Amino acid sequence: MKKTVFAAAVFFAVSFALNAQSYNNITIVDSNFENGNMDGWAPRGDKQEKLEIVTDIKHGGASSLHVFNRSYTWHGPIHSLTDNAVADDIYSISAWIYFKDGPATGAFTFSVEKSFKDTKKDHTYQNVTSFQAKKGEWTEFKTEYTVGADPTQAGIWMYFELPYKEDNLVTPNDKIDFWIDDIKIVKLDPALRPKAEVTIPNLSEKWQNYFDIGTAVSADEVNFSSQQAQLLMKHFTVLVAGNDMKMETVQPKEGAFDWAPAERIIDFAEMTGMRLRWHPLVWHSQNPAWLFQDKANPARAVSKDALNQRLKTYIQTIMRRYRNRIESYDVVNEPLSDTAGLRKGSEGSKYYDILGQEYIDNAFRWAREADPNAQLVINEYGLEGDARKRQEMYNLVKGMKERKVPVDAVGLQMHIDIRTPSVQQIRETIELFASLGVKVLITEMDMSIYTGNSEAKKPASAAILLEQAQRYKDIFAVFREQSQKGNLGDMVVIWGASDNTSWKNDFPVPGRTDAPLLFDGRLQSKPAFWGLVDPSKVKGLK
Ligand code: XIL
Repeated sequence: MKKTVFAAAVFFAVSFALNAQSYNNITIVDSNFENGNMDGWAPRGDKQEKLEIVTDIKHGGASSLHVFNRSYTWHGPIHSLTDNAVADDIYSISAWIYFKDGPATGAFTFSVEKSFKDTKKDHTYQNVTSFQAKKGEWTEFKTEYTVGADPTQAGIWMYFELPYKEDNLVTPNDKIDFWIDDIKIVKLDPALRPKAEVTIPNLSEKWQNYFDIGTAVSADEVNFSSQQAQLLMKHFTVLVAGNDMKMETVQPKEGAFDWAPAERIIDFAEMTGMRLRWHPLVWHSQNPAWLFQDKANPARAVSKDALNQRLKTYIQTIMRRYRNRIESYDVVNEPLSDTAGLRKGSEGSKYYDILGQEYIDNAFRWAREADPNAQLVINEYGLEGDARKRQEMYNLVKGMKERKVPVDAVGLQMHIDIRTPSVQQIRETIELFASLGVKVLITEMDMSIYTGNSEAKKPASAAILLEQAQRYKDIFAVFREQSQKGNLGDMVVIWGASDNTSWKNDFPVPGRTDAPLLFDGRLQSKPAFWGLVDPSKVKGLK
Protein backbone atom coordinates (compact mmCIF):
# COMPACT_ATOMS: atom_id res chain seq x y z
CA MET A 1 0.00 0.00 0.00
CA LYS A 2 1.33 3.37 -0.95
CA LYS A 3 1.93 5.58 2.02
CA THR A 4 1.16 9.23 1.47
CA VAL A 5 0.18 10.98 4.61
CA PHE A 6 -1.60 13.75 2.80
CA ALA A 7 -4.03 13.46 -0.05
CA ALA A 8 -2.42 15.09 -3.04
CA ALA A 9 -4.26 18.02 -4.53
CA VAL A 10 -3.65 17.34 -8.17
CA PHE A 11 -5.71 18.32 -11.11
CA PHE A 12 -5.13 19.70 -14.51
CA ALA A 13 -7.36 22.67 -14.96
CA VAL A 14 -4.26 24.85 -15.13
CA SER A 15 -4.71 25.98 -18.70
CA PHE A 16 -8.21 27.19 -18.00
CA ALA A 17 -6.95 29.14 -15.04
CA LEU A 18 -3.93 30.67 -16.72
CA ASN A 19 -5.68 31.66 -19.90
CA ALA A 20 -8.23 33.66 -18.05
CA GLN A 21 -6.49 37.03 -18.43
CA SER A 22 -9.01 38.95 -16.40
CA TYR A 23 -7.98 37.16 -13.22
CA ASN A 24 -5.43 38.55 -10.80
CA ASN A 25 -3.01 35.69 -10.68
CA ILE A 26 0.21 36.54 -8.86
CA THR A 27 3.48 35.21 -10.24
CA ILE A 28 5.64 34.11 -7.33
CA VAL A 29 8.51 32.48 -9.23
CA ASP A 30 9.37 33.01 -12.91
CA SER A 31 12.77 31.45 -13.48
CA ASN A 32 14.18 31.29 -16.99
CA PHE A 33 17.81 31.23 -15.81
CA GLU A 34 18.83 33.89 -18.29
CA ASN A 35 21.46 36.45 -17.23
CA GLY A 36 23.14 33.95 -14.87
CA ASN A 37 20.41 34.37 -12.29
CA MET A 38 19.72 31.32 -10.08
CA ASP A 39 16.58 33.11 -8.89
CA GLY A 40 16.40 31.58 -5.42
CA TRP A 41 16.80 27.92 -6.43
CA ALA A 42 19.18 25.92 -4.24
CA PRO A 43 20.31 22.28 -4.05
CA ARG A 44 18.55 20.13 -1.42
CA GLY A 45 21.62 17.98 -0.84
CA ASP A 46 23.92 19.88 1.50
CA LYS A 47 27.40 18.99 0.19
CA GLN A 48 27.90 17.16 -3.07
CA GLU A 49 24.82 18.16 -5.03
CA LYS A 50 25.31 21.21 -7.29
CA LEU A 51 23.29 23.56 -9.44
CA GLU A 52 24.76 25.62 -12.26
CA ILE A 53 23.43 27.69 -15.11
CA VAL A 54 24.48 26.25 -18.48
CA THR A 55 24.04 27.29 -22.10
CA ASP A 56 24.65 24.01 -23.99
CA ILE A 57 21.27 22.56 -23.03
CA LYS A 58 18.25 24.85 -22.64
CA HIS A 59 14.54 25.05 -23.28
CA GLY A 60 13.69 28.70 -23.99
CA GLY A 61 16.24 31.49 -24.30
CA ALA A 62 19.95 30.85 -24.01
CA SER A 63 20.33 28.89 -20.74
CA SER A 64 18.86 26.44 -18.24
CA LEU A 65 19.54 25.11 -14.73
CA HIS A 66 21.72 21.98 -14.62
CA VAL A 67 21.27 19.75 -11.54
CA PHE A 68 24.27 17.45 -10.98
CA ASN A 69 26.38 15.48 -8.48
CA ARG A 70 23.17 14.02 -7.09
CA SER A 71 23.60 11.16 -4.58
CA TYR A 72 20.01 10.38 -3.58
CA THR A 73 16.53 10.41 -5.13
CA TRP A 74 15.63 13.45 -3.05
CA HIS A 75 18.42 15.61 -4.43
CA GLY A 76 17.06 18.34 -6.67
CA PRO A 77 16.40 22.09 -6.80
CA ILE A 78 14.25 23.67 -4.08
CA HIS A 79 12.66 27.09 -3.78
CA SER A 80 10.89 28.65 -0.83
CA LEU A 81 7.47 30.21 -1.24
CA THR A 82 8.22 33.70 -0.11
CA ASP A 83 4.68 34.99 -0.12
CA ASN A 84 2.25 34.39 2.70
CA ALA A 85 0.30 31.24 1.85
CA VAL A 86 -3.10 30.84 3.47
CA ALA A 87 -5.66 28.05 3.54
CA ASP A 88 -7.22 27.33 0.15
CA ASP A 89 -4.59 29.24 -1.83
CA ILE A 90 -3.96 27.43 -5.09
CA TYR A 91 -0.57 27.51 -6.74
CA SER A 92 -0.15 26.50 -10.33
CA ILE A 93 3.32 25.14 -11.05
CA SER A 94 4.82 24.54 -14.48
CA ALA A 95 8.33 23.74 -15.68
CA TRP A 96 10.30 22.02 -18.45
CA ILE A 97 12.51 19.05 -17.61
CA TYR A 98 15.27 17.31 -19.58
CA PHE A 99 17.64 14.39 -18.95
CA LYS A 100 20.03 12.44 -21.15
CA ASP A 101 21.30 9.44 -19.14
CA GLY A 102 19.59 6.39 -17.70
CA PRO A 103 16.34 4.79 -18.87
CA ALA A 104 14.40 5.80 -22.00
CA THR A 105 11.63 7.16 -19.79
CA GLY A 106 12.34 8.69 -16.41
CA ALA A 107 9.99 9.63 -13.60
CA PHE A 108 10.27 12.88 -11.66
CA THR A 109 8.36 13.99 -8.60
CA PHE A 110 7.19 17.42 -7.58
CA SER A 111 7.00 17.78 -3.81
CA VAL A 112 6.27 20.24 -1.06
CA GLU A 113 8.13 20.57 2.22
CA LYS A 114 6.56 22.28 5.21
CA SER A 115 7.88 23.51 8.53
CA PHE A 116 5.81 24.33 11.59
CA LYS A 117 5.50 27.19 14.05
CA ASP A 118 6.61 24.68 16.66
CA THR A 119 10.22 24.45 15.47
CA LYS A 120 10.73 21.16 17.32
CA LYS A 121 8.22 19.49 15.02
CA ASP A 122 9.69 17.54 12.09
CA HIS A 123 9.21 19.00 8.64
CA THR A 124 6.73 17.11 6.45
CA TYR A 125 7.36 16.10 2.84
CA GLN A 126 4.43 15.65 0.51
CA ASN A 127 4.82 14.09 -2.93
CA VAL A 128 2.27 16.14 -4.83
CA THR A 129 2.56 14.42 -8.18
CA SER A 130 4.93 12.41 -10.36
CA PHE A 131 5.35 12.65 -14.10
CA GLN A 132 7.24 10.92 -16.87
CA ALA A 133 9.79 12.46 -19.22
CA LYS A 134 11.48 10.96 -22.29
CA LYS A 135 15.26 10.81 -22.48
CA GLY A 136 16.70 13.51 -24.72
CA GLU A 137 13.45 15.53 -24.99
CA TRP A 138 12.25 18.53 -23.06
CA THR A 139 9.00 17.58 -21.28
CA GLU A 140 6.51 20.06 -19.90
CA PHE A 141 5.24 19.53 -16.39
CA LYS A 142 2.13 21.17 -14.90
CA THR A 143 0.25 20.71 -11.70
CA GLU A 144 -1.65 22.56 -9.04
CA TYR A 145 -1.12 22.53 -5.32
CA THR A 146 -3.69 23.66 -2.77
CA VAL A 147 -2.45 24.85 0.59
CA GLY A 148 -4.21 22.99 3.40
CA ALA A 149 -5.85 24.76 6.29
CA ASP A 150 -3.26 23.99 8.91
CA PRO A 151 -2.88 26.81 11.44
CA THR A 152 0.31 25.19 12.80
CA GLN A 153 2.28 25.43 9.57
CA ALA A 154 5.08 27.98 9.00
CA GLY A 155 7.31 27.77 5.86
CA ILE A 156 6.56 26.09 2.53
CA TRP A 157 9.13 24.98 -0.06
CA MET A 158 8.61 23.44 -3.49
CA TYR A 159 11.11 21.09 -5.11
CA PHE A 160 11.78 18.61 -7.87
CA GLU A 161 13.28 15.18 -7.17
CA LEU A 162 13.13 11.58 -8.39
CA PRO A 163 10.52 9.17 -6.95
CA TYR A 164 11.61 8.46 -3.40
CA LYS A 165 13.73 5.44 -2.51
CA GLU A 166 15.53 4.66 0.74
CA ASP A 167 19.07 6.05 0.53
CA ASN A 168 20.63 2.57 0.58
CA LEU A 169 18.49 1.39 -2.36
CA VAL A 170 19.63 4.10 -4.75
CA THR A 171 20.92 2.95 -8.15
CA PRO A 172 22.87 4.95 -10.77
CA ASN A 173 19.60 5.74 -12.55
CA ASP A 174 18.41 7.57 -9.45
CA LYS A 175 21.47 9.80 -9.51
CA ILE A 176 21.25 11.10 -13.06
CA ASP A 177 21.77 14.75 -13.89
CA PHE A 178 18.76 16.69 -15.08
CA TRP A 179 18.07 20.12 -16.51
CA ILE A 180 15.14 22.33 -15.68
CA ASP A 181 14.00 25.56 -17.33
CA ASP A 182 11.18 28.09 -17.45
CA ILE A 183 9.80 27.28 -14.01
CA LYS A 184 6.69 29.23 -13.07
CA ILE A 185 4.90 29.24 -9.76
CA VAL A 186 1.72 31.30 -9.86
CA LYS A 187 -0.73 31.95 -7.05
CA LEU A 188 -4.18 31.86 -8.58
CA ASP A 189 -6.69 34.62 -8.06
CA PRO A 190 -9.03 33.76 -5.19
CA ALA A 191 -11.85 34.03 -7.73
CA LEU A 192 -10.49 30.82 -9.25
CA ARG A 193 -10.60 28.96 -5.96
CA PRO A 194 -13.04 26.12 -5.62
CA LYS A 195 -16.47 27.28 -4.53
CA ALA A 196 -19.04 24.81 -3.28
CA GLU A 197 -22.37 25.18 -5.09
CA VAL A 198 -25.06 26.35 -2.71
CA THR A 199 -28.30 25.97 -4.64
CA ILE A 200 -28.07 22.30 -5.61
CA PRO A 201 -29.93 19.61 -3.61
CA ASN A 202 -28.25 18.00 -0.59
CA LEU A 203 -27.04 14.50 -1.36
CA SER A 204 -27.78 12.93 2.03
CA GLU A 205 -31.29 14.37 2.16
CA LYS A 206 -32.16 12.46 -1.02
CA TRP A 207 -31.30 9.15 0.62
CA GLN A 208 -32.24 9.80 4.23
CA ASN A 209 -35.07 7.28 4.24
CA TYR A 210 -32.57 4.52 3.55
CA PHE A 211 -29.15 5.46 4.95
CA ASP A 212 -26.82 8.31 5.80
CA ILE A 213 -24.08 9.16 3.33
CA GLY A 214 -20.59 9.71 4.67
CA THR A 215 -17.17 10.58 3.35
CA ALA A 216 -13.50 10.26 4.24
CA VAL A 217 -11.63 13.46 5.07
CA SER A 218 -8.27 14.66 6.30
CA ALA A 219 -7.83 16.98 9.26
CA ASP A 220 -6.81 19.72 6.81
CA GLU A 221 -10.21 19.68 5.12
CA VAL A 222 -12.38 20.32 8.16
CA ASN A 223 -11.64 23.98 8.59
CA PHE A 224 -14.92 25.89 8.87
CA SER A 225 -13.73 28.75 6.71
CA SER A 226 -12.86 26.49 3.77
CA GLN A 227 -15.06 25.67 0.80
CA GLN A 228 -14.23 21.98 1.25
CA ALA A 229 -15.93 22.18 4.65
CA GLN A 230 -18.98 23.84 3.08
CA LEU A 231 -19.21 20.92 0.67
CA LEU A 232 -18.92 18.38 3.50
CA MET A 233 -21.56 20.09 5.63
CA LYS A 234 -23.99 20.38 2.75
CA HIS A 235 -23.92 16.83 1.44
CA PHE A 236 -22.63 14.37 4.05
CA THR A 237 -23.89 13.18 7.42
CA VAL A 238 -21.10 10.76 8.41
CA LEU A 239 -17.33 11.36 8.61
CA VAL A 240 -14.34 9.06 8.84
CA ALA A 241 -10.63 9.86 8.55
CA GLY A 242 -8.92 8.84 5.32
CA ASN A 243 -5.63 8.55 7.25
CA ASP A 244 -5.70 10.41 10.54
CA MET A 245 -7.11 7.51 12.58
CA LYS A 246 -4.40 5.06 11.52
CA MET A 247 -1.95 3.80 14.11
CA GLU A 248 1.14 5.47 12.63
CA THR A 249 -0.60 8.79 13.35
CA VAL A 250 -2.49 7.93 16.54
CA GLN A 251 0.28 6.10 18.41
CA PRO A 252 3.61 6.99 16.78
CA LYS A 253 5.48 5.89 19.94
CA GLU A 254 4.34 3.29 22.43
CA GLY A 255 2.04 4.87 24.99
CA ALA A 256 2.30 8.32 23.34
CA PHE A 257 -1.06 8.90 21.73
CA ASP A 258 -1.48 11.85 19.38
CA TRP A 259 -5.20 12.55 19.24
CA ALA A 260 -4.92 15.95 17.60
CA PRO A 261 -5.43 15.12 13.89
CA ALA A 262 -8.29 12.66 14.52
CA GLU A 263 -9.92 15.07 16.93
CA ARG A 264 -10.00 17.90 14.43
CA ILE A 265 -12.27 15.61 12.43
CA ILE A 266 -14.21 14.36 15.45
CA ASP A 267 -14.77 17.88 16.77
CA PHE A 268 -15.92 19.09 13.37
CA ALA A 269 -18.37 16.21 13.05
CA GLU A 270 -19.77 16.77 16.52
CA MET A 271 -20.13 20.50 16.01
CA THR A 272 -21.98 19.97 12.74
CA GLY A 273 -24.12 17.04 13.88
CA MET A 274 -22.46 14.40 11.76
CA ARG A 275 -22.10 10.76 12.76
CA LEU A 276 -18.65 9.19 13.04
CA ARG A 277 -16.82 6.05 12.05
CA TRP A 278 -13.29 5.03 13.10
CA HIS A 279 -11.05 3.42 10.48
CA PRO A 280 -9.19 1.16 11.27
CA LEU A 281 -8.18 -0.40 14.61
CA VAL A 282 -6.24 -3.46 13.38
CA TRP A 283 -4.68 -3.28 9.91
CA HIS A 284 -1.39 -4.47 8.46
CA SER A 285 -0.58 -1.12 6.82
CA GLN A 286 0.32 2.39 8.04
CA ASN A 287 1.55 1.17 11.41
CA PRO A 288 4.43 2.62 13.47
CA ALA A 289 7.59 0.46 13.32
CA TRP A 290 7.71 -0.11 17.09
CA LEU A 291 4.46 -2.10 17.01
CA PHE A 292 6.14 -5.24 15.71
CA GLN A 293 9.48 -4.78 17.49
CA ASP A 294 10.64 -6.20 20.78
CA LYS A 295 10.91 -3.37 23.30
CA ALA A 296 14.31 -4.30 24.73
CA ASN A 297 15.80 -5.30 21.40
CA PRO A 298 14.11 -3.62 18.42
CA ALA A 299 16.05 -5.84 16.02
CA ARG A 300 13.92 -8.76 17.25
CA ALA A 301 10.25 -9.34 16.52
CA VAL A 302 7.76 -8.63 19.30
CA SER A 303 6.52 -11.68 21.22
CA LYS A 304 2.98 -12.96 20.85
CA ASP A 305 2.03 -11.92 24.39
CA ALA A 306 3.44 -8.43 24.02
CA LEU A 307 1.73 -7.84 20.67
CA ASN A 308 -1.59 -9.06 22.04
CA GLN A 309 -1.18 -6.67 24.94
CA ARG A 310 -0.35 -3.79 22.59
CA LEU A 311 -3.41 -4.44 20.42
CA LYS A 312 -5.74 -4.79 23.36
CA THR A 313 -4.48 -1.55 24.91
CA TYR A 314 -4.73 0.24 21.57
CA ILE A 315 -8.28 -0.89 20.82
CA GLN A 316 -9.56 -0.26 24.30
CA THR A 317 -7.85 3.10 24.80
CA ILE A 318 -9.52 4.44 21.68
CA MET A 319 -12.92 2.89 22.21
CA ARG A 320 -13.21 3.90 25.86
CA ARG A 321 -12.18 7.45 25.00
CA TYR A 322 -14.86 7.74 22.31
CA ARG A 323 -17.58 5.64 23.91
CA ASN A 324 -21.00 6.82 22.72
CA ARG A 325 -19.36 9.30 20.35
CA ILE A 326 -18.03 7.09 17.56
CA GLU A 327 -20.74 4.71 16.42
CA SER A 328 -18.98 2.34 14.11
CA TYR A 329 -15.46 0.87 13.97
CA ASP A 330 -13.49 -1.06 11.35
CA VAL A 331 -12.12 -3.39 14.01
CA VAL A 332 -10.12 -5.49 11.55
CA ASN A 333 -9.30 -4.19 8.08
CA GLU A 334 -8.23 -6.33 5.11
CA PRO A 335 -7.66 -9.65 6.92
CA LEU A 336 -7.86 -11.75 3.75
CA SER A 337 -5.15 -12.81 1.35
CA ASP A 338 -5.43 -12.02 -2.35
CA THR A 339 -4.65 -15.66 -3.14
CA ALA A 340 -5.78 -17.98 -0.31
CA GLY A 341 -6.90 -17.83 3.31
CA LEU A 342 -5.90 -15.10 5.72
CA ARG A 343 -3.32 -12.46 4.80
CA LYS A 344 0.12 -13.51 6.02
CA GLY A 345 3.61 -12.07 6.26
CA SER A 346 4.20 -12.69 2.57
CA GLU A 347 1.44 -10.17 1.85
CA GLY A 348 2.62 -7.63 4.36
CA SER A 349 0.67 -8.68 7.48
CA LYS A 350 2.57 -9.64 10.60
CA TYR A 351 -0.53 -10.29 12.71
CA TYR A 352 -1.26 -13.76 11.44
CA ASP A 353 2.39 -14.85 11.61
CA ILE A 354 2.91 -13.63 15.18
CA LEU A 355 -0.55 -14.09 16.70
CA GLY A 356 -2.20 -16.86 14.71
CA GLN A 357 -5.69 -16.62 13.29
CA GLU A 358 -7.27 -15.90 16.68
CA TYR A 359 -6.07 -12.30 16.47
CA ILE A 360 -9.33 -11.46 14.69
CA ASP A 361 -11.61 -12.98 17.33
CA ASN A 362 -9.58 -11.35 20.09
CA ALA A 363 -9.76 -7.90 18.51
CA PHE A 364 -13.54 -8.06 18.27
CA ARG A 365 -13.92 -9.30 21.86
CA TRP A 366 -11.69 -6.52 23.21
CA ALA A 367 -13.64 -4.02 21.16
CA ARG A 368 -17.03 -5.14 22.48
CA GLU A 369 -15.72 -5.06 26.03
CA ALA A 370 -14.57 -1.45 25.62
CA ASP A 371 -17.77 -0.14 24.03
CA PRO A 372 -20.76 -2.50 24.06
CA ASN A 373 -22.84 -0.15 21.90
CA ALA A 374 -20.48 0.42 18.99
CA GLN A 375 -20.99 -1.29 15.65
CA LEU A 376 -18.07 -3.65 15.03
CA VAL A 377 -17.12 -4.14 11.39
CA ILE A 378 -14.79 -6.51 9.56
CA ASN A 379 -13.73 -4.59 6.47
CA GLU A 380 -12.33 -5.89 3.16
CA TYR A 381 -11.83 -5.00 -0.49
CA GLY A 382 -12.56 -6.93 -3.66
CA LEU A 383 -15.19 -9.29 -2.25
CA GLU A 384 -17.77 -8.53 -4.95
CA GLY A 385 -15.71 -9.56 -7.96
CA ASP A 386 -13.66 -12.38 -6.44
CA ALA A 387 -15.79 -15.44 -5.62
CA ARG A 388 -12.95 -17.16 -3.76
CA LYS A 389 -12.28 -14.18 -1.50
CA ARG A 390 -15.99 -13.66 -0.91
CA GLN A 391 -16.40 -17.30 0.19
CA GLU A 392 -13.41 -16.99 2.54
CA MET A 393 -15.01 -13.95 4.17
CA TYR A 394 -18.28 -15.85 4.43
CA ASN A 395 -16.53 -18.77 6.17
CA LEU A 396 -14.60 -16.45 8.44
CA VAL A 397 -17.66 -14.53 9.62
CA LYS A 398 -19.74 -17.71 9.92
CA GLY A 399 -17.05 -19.17 12.18
CA MET A 400 -16.94 -15.98 14.24
CA LYS A 401 -20.72 -16.09 14.73
CA GLU A 402 -20.50 -19.76 15.79
CA ARG A 403 -17.78 -18.89 18.29
CA LYS A 404 -19.98 -16.04 19.58
CA VAL A 405 -17.47 -13.42 18.48
CA PRO A 406 -19.22 -10.02 18.46
CA VAL A 407 -19.11 -9.02 14.79
CA ASP A 408 -21.97 -6.77 13.64
CA ALA A 409 -21.23 -6.05 10.00
CA VAL A 410 -19.13 -6.90 7.00
CA GLY A 411 -17.68 -3.76 5.43
CA LEU A 412 -17.37 -3.67 1.67
CA GLN A 413 -14.72 -1.09 0.82
CA MET A 414 -15.99 -0.90 -2.79
CA HIS A 415 -12.97 0.66 -4.44
CA ILE A 416 -14.42 -0.27 -7.80
CA ASP A 417 -13.94 0.88 -11.35
CA ILE A 418 -16.03 2.05 -14.23
CA ARG A 419 -16.64 -1.52 -15.52
CA THR A 420 -16.30 -4.04 -12.68
CA PRO A 421 -17.68 -5.61 -10.53
CA SER A 422 -21.14 -5.97 -11.99
CA VAL A 423 -24.23 -4.59 -10.30
CA GLN A 424 -25.48 -8.15 -9.92
CA GLN A 425 -22.25 -9.26 -8.19
CA ILE A 426 -22.66 -6.39 -5.74
CA ARG A 427 -26.26 -7.42 -5.00
CA GLU A 428 -25.31 -11.08 -4.51
CA THR A 429 -22.42 -10.18 -2.22
CA ILE A 430 -24.64 -8.08 0.03
CA GLU A 431 -27.28 -10.83 0.16
CA LEU A 432 -24.72 -13.53 0.92
CA PHE A 433 -23.31 -11.75 3.98
CA ALA A 434 -26.73 -10.63 5.18
CA SER A 435 -27.76 -14.30 5.22
CA LEU A 436 -25.30 -14.73 8.12
CA GLY A 437 -27.32 -12.33 10.23
CA VAL A 438 -24.87 -9.43 9.97
CA LYS A 439 -25.36 -6.09 8.23
CA VAL A 440 -23.39 -5.03 5.21
CA LEU A 441 -21.80 -1.60 5.35
CA ILE A 442 -20.39 0.28 2.38
CA THR A 443 -17.23 1.79 3.86
CA GLU A 444 -14.90 3.30 1.21
CA MET A 445 -16.67 3.57 -2.10
CA ASP A 446 -15.08 5.21 -5.13
CA MET A 447 -15.17 4.46 -8.86
CA SER A 448 -11.99 4.78 -10.90
CA ILE A 449 -12.38 5.92 -14.50
CA TYR A 450 -9.67 3.37 -15.43
CA THR A 451 -10.17 -0.36 -15.92
CA GLY A 452 -6.69 -1.46 -14.90
CA ASN A 453 -3.13 -0.48 -14.06
CA SER A 454 -1.95 -0.66 -17.64
CA GLU A 455 -4.40 1.94 -18.87
CA ALA A 456 -2.67 5.23 -19.70
CA LYS A 457 -3.67 8.60 -18.26
CA LYS A 458 -6.76 10.00 -19.97
CA PRO A 459 -9.04 12.96 -19.48
CA ALA A 460 -12.35 12.44 -17.67
CA SER A 461 -14.34 12.98 -20.87
CA ALA A 462 -18.06 13.68 -20.95
CA ALA A 463 -18.65 10.11 -22.16
CA ILE A 464 -16.75 8.61 -19.24
CA LEU A 465 -18.47 10.86 -16.72
CA LEU A 466 -21.83 9.78 -18.12
CA GLU A 467 -20.87 6.12 -17.87
CA GLN A 468 -19.76 6.75 -14.29
CA ALA A 469 -23.03 8.50 -13.45
CA GLN A 470 -25.02 5.58 -14.83
CA ARG A 471 -23.07 3.11 -12.73
CA TYR A 472 -23.28 5.14 -9.51
CA LYS A 473 -27.02 5.41 -10.10
CA ASP A 474 -27.46 1.67 -10.75
CA ILE A 475 -25.37 0.67 -7.76
CA PHE A 476 -27.19 3.04 -5.41
CA ALA A 477 -30.44 1.51 -6.65
CA VAL A 478 -29.12 -1.81 -5.32
CA PHE A 479 -28.23 -0.13 -2.02
CA ARG A 480 -31.78 1.19 -1.78
CA GLU A 481 -33.25 -2.23 -2.52
CA GLN A 482 -30.92 -3.93 -0.02
CA SER A 483 -31.67 -1.35 2.61
CA GLN A 484 -35.40 -2.02 2.14
CA LYS A 485 -34.69 -5.71 2.69
CA GLY A 486 -32.90 -4.87 5.93
CA ASN A 487 -29.55 -6.12 4.63
CA LEU A 488 -27.61 -2.88 4.53
CA GLY A 489 -26.27 -0.94 7.49
CA ASP A 490 -27.43 2.65 7.81
CA MET A 491 -24.34 4.36 6.37
CA VAL A 492 -22.86 4.41 2.90
CA VAL A 493 -19.40 5.97 2.98
CA ILE A 494 -17.63 7.39 -0.07
CA TRP A 495 -13.81 7.62 0.04
CA GLY A 496 -13.53 11.38 -0.36
CA ALA A 497 -15.77 14.22 -1.49
CA SER A 498 -13.97 15.85 -4.43
CA ASP A 499 -11.70 14.30 -7.04
CA ASN A 500 -8.66 16.43 -6.16
CA THR A 501 -8.46 14.77 -2.73
CA SER A 502 -8.73 11.19 -3.97
CA TRP A 503 -6.05 8.61 -3.16
CA LYS A 504 -6.55 7.32 -6.71
CA ASN A 505 -4.56 10.23 -8.14
CA ASP A 506 -1.05 8.87 -8.72
CA PHE A 507 -2.07 5.49 -7.29
CA PRO A 508 -1.61 2.73 -8.29
CA VAL A 509 -0.05 4.41 -11.34
CA PRO A 510 2.19 7.44 -10.65
CA GLY A 511 1.38 10.40 -12.87
CA ARG A 512 -2.16 9.22 -13.59
CA THR A 513 -5.01 11.50 -12.56
CA ASP A 514 -8.32 9.85 -11.65
CA ALA A 515 -11.86 11.14 -11.12
CA PRO A 516 -13.61 8.57 -8.91
CA LEU A 517 -15.87 10.76 -6.74
CA LEU A 518 -19.06 12.83 -6.95
CA PHE A 519 -17.51 16.33 -7.09
CA ASP A 520 -14.66 17.56 -9.28
CA GLY A 521 -11.48 19.31 -8.20
CA ARG A 522 -13.23 22.68 -8.14
CA LEU A 523 -15.97 21.22 -5.94
CA GLN A 524 -18.55 21.27 -8.74
CA SER A 525 -21.15 18.50 -8.94
CA LYS A 526 -20.35 15.84 -11.53
CA PRO A 527 -22.89 13.84 -13.54
CA ALA A 528 -22.40 11.06 -10.95
CA PHE A 529 -23.79 13.39 -8.28
CA TRP A 530 -26.84 14.11 -10.42
CA GLY A 531 -27.26 10.40 -11.08
CA LEU A 532 -27.86 10.07 -7.34
CA VAL A 533 -30.01 13.13 -6.72
CA ASP A 534 -31.87 13.99 -9.95
CA PRO A 535 -31.12 11.82 -13.00
CA SER A 536 -33.40 13.96 -15.15
CA LYS A 537 -30.66 16.61 -15.09
CA VAL A 538 -28.21 14.42 -17.03
CA LYS A 539 -28.94 13.86 -20.68
CA GLY A 540 -28.40 10.23 -21.64
CA LEU A 541 -28.90 8.67 -18.19
CA LYS A 542 -31.16 5.64 -18.17
C1 XIL B 1 -5.65 5.07 1.74
C2 XIL B 1 -5.69 6.59 1.84
O1 XIL B 1 -6.83 7.08 1.17
C3 XIL B 1 -4.42 7.14 1.21
O2 XIL B 1 -4.37 8.55 1.40
C4 XIL B 1 -3.18 6.50 1.83
O3 XIL B 1 -2.03 6.90 1.11
C5 XIL B 1 -3.28 4.98 1.77
O4 XIL B 1 -4.49 4.56 2.35
N1 XIL B 1 -8.20 0.65 1.86
C6 XIL B 1 -8.21 1.19 3.12
C7 XIL B 1 -7.84 2.61 3.32
O5 XIL B 1 -8.64 0.52 4.06
O6 XIL B 1 -7.26 2.85 4.56
C8 XIL B 1 -6.94 3.12 2.23
O7 XIL B 1 -6.79 4.53 2.38
C9 XIL B 1 -7.53 2.80 0.87
C10 XIL B 1 -7.66 1.30 0.70
